[in-house]
Amino acid sequence: MPDPAAPQKVEIFEMGPRDGLQNEKRQIPTAEKIALVDLLSGAGYRRIEVTSFVSPKWVPQMGDAAAVMAGIARNPAVSYAALTPNMQGYLAARAARAGEVAIFGSATESFSRANLNASIEESLARFAPIVAAAKEDGIPVRGYVSVVTDCPYEGEVAPEQVARVVARLRELGCYEISLGETLGRGLPERVDAMLSAVLGEMPAEKLAGHFHDTGGWALDNIDVSLSRGLRVFDAAVGGLGGCPYAPGAAGNVASEKVAAHLANLGYDSGLDLDAVAQAADYARAIRSGGPDV
Ligand code: HMG
Ligand code: MG
Repeated sequence: MPDPAAPQKVEIFEMGPRDGLQNEKRQIPTAEKIALVDLLSGAGYRRIEVTSFVSPKWVPQMGDAAAVMAGIARNPAVSYAALTPNMQGYLAARAARAGEVAIFGSATESFSRANLNASIEESLARFAPIVAAAKEDGIPVRGYVSVVTDCPYEGEVAPEQVARVVARLRELGCYEISLGETLGRGLPERVDAMLSAVLGEMPAEKLAGHFHDTGGWALDNIDVSLSRGLRVFDAAVGGLGGCPYAPGAAGNVASEKVAAHLANLGYDSGLDLDAVAQAADYARAIRSGGPDV
């Protein structure tokens, strides 16, 4: 019998090495990226997004994806994830022994075009063979939907648009779908309305919240999501991050901030807060010009 007084479990999916670093102007040495992942690997995370197998012409910072994956010291308790926009990316991620991959769609046509050079429909057509191959290979596939409340090109996004893409990713076979509040400007009321629509398509236990923190509402948005039953939140150590195709967006909400907040609310994230703080210091040093590795 589970102990009713035991703290409820939540999970923070660490985004720092991928979302956190993808938007940095300085080309970060591969060794620094590896050192960051290695610090995170000892902090109690179950999932860490390490890199993206995307076009290096589009996102040069992720051009060393294979080298990063080859260089990290793998903790068998951790799933090391990578973004894959197409089959070329999937095959490279598989060769690099990614523990799981993520396909990433958009709730608006304009963001889809800016981020993937494809319409929503074209992007889903590219994702389908990834999911089929990953199933054969025994590699779990996570899905993202970006711009779930606000789009840098189209403004406010209707909740039904988000729900439609969530349904398509569910039909493809994603084991979990992360809801990307890419701009970090969505007010909690709008996140709540979006969740009302999305929960009609996917149960809370298969959803994750991915909040950027531009407006400073990310923790409020996490609270709203908790009240709707979500228990997985994406975050990046040091609050690093942003999307190159979402101008003006700040980083992901900081993992150390989310971990402390969830602990205050009585949730158990399983993280070693000192180890997370150490990784956050290192992430901030990377941003401010480079630690000694
Ligand atoms: P495209 O230019 O239309 O691609 O880009 P293409 O298929 O026409 O190929 C053009 C060239 O790219 C070819 O090389 C391909 O080999 C190469 P060339 O013959 O010219 O030398 N190429 C690749 N190279 C390496 N890996 C690949 C790959 N695919 C093609 N996988 C493409 C289409 C999807 C590739 C491009 O738009 C792209 O890479 N987009 C990724 C953008 C990105 O990474 N955005 C940030 C991540 S998403 C995000 O941050 C949001 C999230 O955090 C949630 C949230 O906050 O909302 C997840
Ligand atoms: Mg993001």
